[in-house]
Amino acid sequence: MEDYIESIYLLVQQKGYARVSDISDVLRIQRPAVSKMIQRLDQEKYLIYEKYRGIVLTKKGEKFGKRLLHRHKLLERFLETIGVHSENIYSDVEGIEHHLSWDAIDRIDDLIQFFEEKEDRIKELRDIQGKKNEHDHDGEISF
Ligand code: CO
Repeated sequence: MEDYIESIYLLVQQKGYARVSDISDVLRIQRPAVSKMIQRLDQEKYLIYEKYRGIVLTKKGEKFGKRLLHRHKLLERFLETIGVHSENIYSDVEGIEHHLSWDAIDRIDDLIQFFEEKEDRIKELRDIQGKKNEHDHDGEISF
């Protein structure tokens, strides 16, 4: 359900509207299943679905979408900070974002702040990672 609201929020930001077909493309879920979920989200007052005008988020839906997008961006920054390769970041975030508690999200936020406050901290982390990579190249930790 969260990934629906997240992608509708993004689509509306990018194009000004979202249609069932757009959401179906983005999430790679068949249209009938998307339609069903959209009707549910309409009932739960996250959005208003009008057959010809498409999907509009309500205040509640927009607030939630904004929070979900913030979470997505925060997790991207987190993975970037800890040194995950950029080509892995998007799919890793998609894989974990819906499974973490908001408590965990807030603690990750703290950790990013911890690293961003003093540059030395990131440098120290990179030093450790550099040493591990040397070992990897020695073949000690290869698999
Ligand atoms: Co996401």
